[in-house]
Order: sequence, then C-alpha cells, then structure tokens
Amino acid sequence: MIIGIISAMVEEVEPFLDLKEAEDMLHYFDHYEDVRYAGRTYHHINYRGHKIVLVYSKIGKVNAALTAATLIEKFGAEMVLFSGVAGAIDPALKIGDLIAATQLCQHDLDITAFGHPYGYVPEGKVYVEPDRELMVLAKKVADEKGIELKAGIIATGDQFVADPKRKEWIRQTFQAHAIEMEGAAVASVCDDLNVPFFVLRAISDAADMDAAFDFDEFLKHSSKVSSDFMMGLVDKIIDDHAQS
Ligand code: ADE
Repeated sequence: MIIGIISAMVEEVEPFLDLKEAEDMLHYFDHYEDVRYAGRTYHHINYRGHKIVLVYSKIGKVNAALTAATLIEKFGAEMVLFSGVAGAIDPALKIGDLIAATQLCQHDLDITAFGHPYGYVPEGKVYVEPDRELMVLAKKVADEKGIELKAGIIATGDQFVADPKRKEWIRQTFQAHAIEMEGAAVASVCDDLNVPFFVLRAISDAADMDAAFDFDEFLKHSSKVSSDFMMGLVDKIIDDHAQS
C-alpha cells in the first residue's frame, strides 16, 4: 500500500519525522528518502512493509490541492490522510481536542450572485465526504486507545479566522464545527480522483480575538496530538489490510 499523509505546515509534519529516531521499533521509519518536487519535499518512508509518502503542502487551498494531486498522480498514493490543527467553531471543542471531518466545504467560495448557495461549485457540491471505512477505522482506534475523537463538519478557506463575527457566519451558513485552510481542497481533489481520504485536526485555537496568540502557543502540541492519532490510524489501516 502507498499511503499519502499531508499536513499544511512544517510544524505539523515534524512530529511524524521525529519517528525517524524513534526507539520504539513498532513505529520505526525505515529506508528514508526525500524527493523534492514542485517546491515541496516528499518524504518516502518504508513502514511495516508499506510505503508512506509524507509532505507538508504549505498553507491554503491551492497549495493543498497541488500537493494532494501530486501524491496521487506522481507518487501513487492509494489513500490520502490529512493531519494538522484547526480553529474551533463549536464551543464544545477545546484546545487539543481531536475532530475528524464528516464533511468538508469551502466557506470562501461564493457565487451566490447567481442564486447558488455559499460553497457551491457548478457540477460539484457544497460538501465532500471522507471515506466511510477510514472513518470506521478511526473510530475503532479512538475506542481502543480510549481517546475522544469528535466528528463534524470542517469548513476550509484561504483565511485565518480570528473574528467572532466571521466565525459565527461560517457556523450558521455551513453548520461547521471547525475551520482550517486546506481540508476541503484535499477532499475535492481526492473525490474527483476517486481516492479515499480522511481529514483529522486537533484544535489549536477558537478562531476568536485570541486565535493568533493561541495558534502560536498550541500549534506544536496540537500537531503532535494529531500526528500521534494518525499513526494509530495508519497502524489500524495496515492491520486491516493484512486481514483482508
Ligand atoms: N487553523 C488553525 N486555526 C485556524 C483559524 N483560526 N482559521 C483558519 N485556519 C486555522
């Protein structure tokens, strides 16, 4: 299997790369090769007899879309997993909480002038849904490890939201639980190319007046929360694959 893992920022992939030095052989990353392509570094990793291609895309929808397409079309990723941080919209989501996207939408896509709903793409749809089997496996990982994994709608846009009014508008318009800047772009590319995907985020801030401060403060911690869970999911995917 070739598993693509994307994050947006270097801080979000660093905890994965730390596994290079992991003493825990279970999580040993072997035969390590870095491939530079189109301004990104794709880390090719042998892991438990499978291949992981790990990359950070740089922030925003365009960067994420190019990177997801490259993972699939150039490096043969058979599934794409996104790991990173998000701002909370749902007040029940606290810093460090994990949320798996049930649906993703683009909150900054607007052709309402033509009578369409916000987030609508002609010949497309407002919400894109991740792979059901990956969701089921993620739930199993959470249950087995006793980790609380929340699930909800993630809204994506080329905007760091640090504004209660914009946040409330996104909540009301899309019923979104969390907000970030790449997930729906990856989702859309994977959906069009028929590649299963899963988007996981750990909360770094509440998309409010304190968001920039909190983001800087909690980026590292929440990135690790997300990457730790994601490696649990990768293990589960590999175990599941071995049984089928
Ligand atoms: N990623 C993490 N926090 C965010 C926020 N407040 N807005 C957009 N993307 C984010």
